Amino acid sequence: MTKIIVEKSPALKGTVKISGAKNSVLPIIAASLLSSGEVFIDDIPELEDVNVIIELIKYLGAECTLKDGKLRIMVDIKDVEAPYDLVKKMRASFLVMGPILAKLGHARISMPGGCAIGTRPIDLHLKGFQTLGANINIGHGYVEATAKKLIGKKVYLDFPSVGATENIMMAAVFADGVTAIENAAEEPEIVDLANFLNKMGANIKGAGTDTIRIEGVKELKGTEHTVIPDRIEAGTYMVAAAMTGGNVLIENVIIDHIKPVIAKLTECGVVITEEANGIRVKGKKNYKAVDIKTLPYPGFPTDMQAQMMAMMSCAKGTSVIIETVFENRFMHVDELKRMGANIKIEGRSAVVTGIDHLSGAEVKATDLRAGAALVLAGLVADGKTVINDVHHIDRGYVKIEDRLSKLGAIIYREE
Ligand code: UD1
Repeated sequence: MTKIIVEKSPALKGTVKISGAKNSVLPIIAASLLSSGEVFIDDIPELEDVNVIIELIKYLGAECTLKDGKLRIMVDIKDVEAPYDLVKKMRASFLVMGPILAKLGHARISMPGGCAIGTRPIDLHLKGFQTLGANINIGHGYVEATAKKLIGKKVYLDFPSVGATENIMMAAVFADGVTAIENAAEEPEIVDLANFLNKMGANIKGAGTDTIRIEGVKELKGTEHTVIPDRIEAGTYMVAAAMTGGNVLIENVIIDHIKPVIAKLTECGVVITEEANGIRVKGKKNYKAVDIKTLPYPGFPTDMQAQMMAMMSCAKGTSVIIETVFENRFMHVDELKRMGANIKIEGRSAVVTGIDHLSGAEVKATDLRAGAALVLAGLVADGKTVINDVHHIDRGYVKIEDRLSKLGAIIYREE
């Protein structure tokens, strides 16, 4: 089994270039199923989750060629069913339901499995499809949706779910009339998906606000699109630079997208400056503990909660971290505690009292961002940290050990 070993590292120095956003590229590849023409997507990150979605759309009938980070897709959907074997690997596979339903009026997708960070239901996705006129049947571990013709309607989301907003937006592109998604998610990845769909000929307005209007069109043509940079990868390297007291230039970032992370790090005492090619993060020795509450965008991202907890584990003072997006996203706490962190969980809050030194230990990545948090903790912990279950980390970070090594970190893989 592959392990990542991290040793106490010097202050990180140099430049790191951020990859295309995982959470943008997954729905965009799924949305390519709607196109009748040739699609080119640029800045595809080399990630396990990306391989999974490509495998899935190939199964459904797409022809895909990936070369030098550019993916060419030509679609001729042959199957309306996404089987268990492909969907169980990644929850985001469920995003093919909206496009297949829109294009063929019938989709049968394996229920996404339970996930480590909470129950993560799909009720909001299904409520949206139903409101647009689809019949939904659940049985034998599959969700089946059928509709002769989807009809544009008002869909109110009880929670601004990212996945539900994307799936309903894709389902509505060919619907008769106008669909309005209210209390929609406002994440930058939603805007990127809407831009991609509009380039193909869709008529979507309001992405990035809480109401998205989609006017149905007849057909989508081919296009070229470059994916936005990954704000969570950027945030993770910002924390790495800060925790080690480093000086790192982070290239290929959209500053607006990482404002909540910049604000929190600045509050802790990190010096962050904008430069022509990106942002520079200058760290120091001791940081002030700050409170954090995760929220849908533009609030503080839940995908940065674990990494900030690693940082707060060795800050000066006590930090209260409240997770409001997922109900069970504190699995990294037990692992950080193995490294000496002083953390108490009370419901959806974690009370973190900073200590002087974490100590290297054998730990496991329980999910993607939890794994990133352990890498960060390992950079400052005394001795060696051995991280197991690193496949979680590979789902969302491109060559993490190479990129950190180039910045001076002591990190390597062991088979
Ligand atoms: C996406 C991101 C993930 C990020 C999350 C929140 C992708 C591929 N993944 O996940 O990295 O952590 O947004 O920013 O983009 N919910 C329901 N019913 C539903 C759908 C969701 O109750 O039908 C709940 C979930 O259980 C969760 C909350 O809504 O508590 C947020 O989930 P959602 O925004 O849907 O996250 P994902 O799209 O799965």
